[in-house]
Amino acid sequence: MNQDEMKRAAAEAAIAHIPEDCIVGVGTGSTANYFIDALAKIKGRIVGAVSSSEASVARLKGHGIAVFDLNGIDALPVYVDGADEINHQLQMIKGGGAALTREKIVAAVAERFVCIADESKYVSVLGQFPLPVEVIPMARSYVARELVKLGGHPAYREGVVTDNGNVILDVHGLSITEATKLETEINQIVGVVTNGIFARRRADVLLLGTRDGVKTYS
Ligand code: A5P
Repeated sequence: MNQDEMKRAAAEAAIAHIPEDCIVGVGTGSTANYFIDALAKIKGRIVGAVSSSEASVARLKGHGIAVFDLNGIDALPVYVDGADEINHQLQMIKGGGAALTREKIVAAVAERFVCIADESKYVSVLGQFPLPVEVIPMARSYVARELVKLGGHPAYREGVVTDNGNVILDVHGLSITEATKLETEINQIVGVVTNGIFARRRADVLLLGTRDGVKTYS
């Protein structure tokens, strides 16, 4: 199995975690795209979806799946999304696709977070993947200086504007051993909208696509 096949296998395994007649939270990225394609095959069994990005909204609608506004729903039983890294405590780095803020909002509302990923994403310590931080544009340089004080090496992701009109700093060189603490510290820097550490709201289940099939961790 190559990496894409492992992503697809994990995404298809997530269908078993979708209750009947519910609205499904749907994430962003190539693994989430495989999940959307799998969801389309059972669309008669669900009410619709809420999504964490304009790109996923377009793909869902392209499959004829109804997309709801998060503010208009009372309950979201499950959110399914990929990750850039996930550790053995099911804490994650997300935001490689620049959708981290909406992903964190939908994940916060959901009762269960099902992470779908290929085996390359499963790590002992988070931080090899540069940590995305969404920043209000006028605060970009200030936030970068504050991130240096925390030991990171921020790089401006040029040419990228988030769905919320903000910019992304990718922070290199962090070894994230205390994920909840660092998530909180970075969020306290004025001008930061969200950072891509998902530790305060980690995954409940990981479906990991491997060469030996899909493994489940919880
Ligand atoms: C989007 O902003 C990210 O959080 C994605 O979930 C993450 O980048 C995983 O992407 P792939 O599924 O494309 O690897």
